[in-house]
Amino acid sequence: MSGLNAAMDVYLTGLRNQHAVETQAIGTIKNQLARMEPYPALHAQMQQDKQRSETQAARLDQLLAKRDTAKSGVKEIVAGTVATVAGFAHVTADDEVLKNVLAAIGYKAYEISSYKVLITLANTAGASEDVPVLEQSMKEEQEMGDWLGTHLPDFVQSYLKQHTA
Ligand SMILES: [Fe+2]
Repeated sequence: MSGLNAAMDVYLTGLRNQHAVETQAIGTIKNQLARMEPYPALHAQMQQDKQRSETQAARLDQLLAKRDTAKSGVKEIVAGTVATVAGFAHVTADDEVLKNVLAAIGYKAYEISSYKVLITLANTAGASEDVPVLEQSMKEEQEMGDWLGTHLPDFVQSYLKQHTA
């Protein structure tokens, strides 16, 4: 296998992995949304993040379809990838919302970095025409991560208000 082919192989696997990461994000947000209703700003932002994740997953689908990669590959790889990040998604304690926000910040950091990896791979594999699409998704992850980080002190205050009333 030539170096370019090897890079393309790793890139395509990376696209499938990221599709699993987006799918996991959508599932996690769906599970958490109802319990975020007491935090309207957070609820609205998470709802937007769910929509964006759906768009991001669709973009990855398109990039894979363009290279004729069988879509069944997407399914096979889900379990392994999700295990990598599932540690972020498991919370049932009383301070659940705060933990969920911390988990979401961690998840966003993971996503930003994995898009950065995909961009590097795309450039190396001779797929630099994919880069703008990947950069758009990375920018959205960055925006959400920044928003969560900026508003973290507000969530602590709202949490305290609701639990000391
Ligand atoms: Fe995402």
